[in-house]
Amino acid sequence: MIRMERSHVNPHVVLLPYPLQGHIKPMMSLAELLGSANFQVTFVNTNHNHDLLLRNTDITSFCNRFPNFQFRSIPSGLPANVIRSGLTAKDVFDAMKAMSKPAFRDLLISLGEETEQRQRPTCVIADGILCFLTLDVSEELQIPLLALRTHNASYSWIYFHLPKLIEDGHIPFLDENMDKPVAGIPGFENFLRNRDLPGTCRVKTSDDDYLLQFFIGETFAMTRASALILNTFEIEAPVVSLLGSHFTKIYTIGPLHKLRKSRMKDINSPSVSSSGILQKEDTSCMTWLNSQPPKSVLYVSFGSLVGLTREQMSELWHGLVNSGQRFLLVVRPDLILGEPGAGATPLAQNKGTEERNRFIVSWAPQEEVLAHPAVGGFLTHGGWNSTLEGIVAGVPMICWPQFSDQFVNSRCVSEVWKIGFDMKDTCDGSIIEKLVRDLMENKREEIMGSTDRVATMAHDAVNEGGSSYRNLDGLIEDIRLMARKI
Ligand code: UDX
Repeated sequence: MIRMERSHVNPHVVLLPYPLQGHIKPMMSLAELLGSANFQVTFVNTNHNHDLLLRNTDITSFCNRFPNFQFRSIPSGLPANVIRSGLTAKDVFDAMKAMSKPAFRDLLISLGEETEQRQRPTCVIADGILCFLTLDVSEELQIPLLALRTHNASYSWIYFHLPKLIEDGHIPFLDENMDKPVAGIPGFENFLRNRDLPGTCRVKTSDDDYLLQFFIGETFAMTRASALILNTFEIEAPVVSLLGSHFTKIYTIGPLHKLRKSRMKDINSPSVSSSGILQKEDTSCMTWLNSQPPKSVLYVSFGSLVGLTREQMSELWHGLVNSGQRFLLVVRPDLILGEPGAGATPLAQNKGTEERNRFIVSWAPQEEVLAHPAVGGFLTHGGWNSTLEGIVAGVPMICWPQFSDQFVNSRCVSEVWKIGFDMKDTCDGSIIEKLVRDLMENKREEIMGSTDRVATMAHDAVNEGGSSYRNLDGLIEDIRLMARKI
């Protein structure tokens, strides 16, 4: 086929996030950055998340500001009234394979009919764990696919080594010493233990475990994409360079939420990515924070997905209260496992406590909270977005990871970057109490040196001339080149 060179075309990028808050948010930051480079953008959500987006954000003013932006939706294959937090990842993947894949193909075909306003898709940027849905379709329709893996680089690198660890009998390791060092993952020999491996490795049998095999498959499938985009920066430079052996091209453009702010600061635009997106934010905590002394408040949040058992919740509560520190706690209605809606109950404890040393909300404006001068520490599950948001704010962390990449992230936080403590696999109020005191008072000085250093690295990366700033320029230019060749 003869390809024509076209000099003045605005690329059209179709973005497809995995349908969860922690994946949608970084994808939306990237979409806004591409939109501000005058790209045409189609952002594809599942119907369920599209409805939440319409309900909780001011899409009209956003689209007025970015007329080159459109939102589309496809079915997830899940019934509308099912409780999302009660689903397993397998439920979601099976449903998406059956319903979302053909719907995404149809959508790409319909977008391929070029109009005066919109040219056909230049490329697809899809979540790196959606290769099962996007690879075949983009190859069939000859639309280049770029994978945005919203987890960090270390997590992907570890996945490339899991087949060998399984073959060597290192996995499964349950019932063995969880502190046993993991050998055979270059760059991680000195600090990775069994308990720090991805949550999917905690299985009794490895060969037929659906999720473990699924994520291994998706990680290797990503190498078929034209490029890998990672929400990371210099703190993972060594592992990114190791990953280079698997990919034609890697763009590191993190922390994305900060890069968006840095690149779009003069635009003063309404944003979808900086808000809670799928949840209504309770901003009353900002007023409470305004009346607290500098660096005195511990912010406690478990992201959008993690559930805690009653026992964990009770140990957490006692640890926080007994530490004597001020805290702002996010209790999502679905935070308590197996008791949908029960998380709302502790809100009653908030009554009359506002003037005291604690405050509870069901969903906080997290980036704003972490940037508030009154916040001095972060107790987090260690999701990658939360970790990056804590890093950018220069706030040291206590990680209480529960699954997935959180086990890896928390180990890097404590042992590699030394910006916090890792309390994985414990559930004890007195440990929480001690760690909170250490973070806020006793060991504060020793942890703040590296926290400030890593925060500076993050800011340098996203400011003009920094690595992520330049890599985004490179990505934009490469997509423009693709558009000229269509
Ligand atoms: C999930 C996984 O659990 C996580 O490990 C993975 O890296 C991404 O997908 P989630 O658990 O929601 O994400 O955690 P995280 O990555 O931290 O994302 C949560 C997002 O929700 C953050 O951007 C945070 O700012 C936002 N949030 C959370 C709020 O805005 N307000 C809140 O009250 C809680």
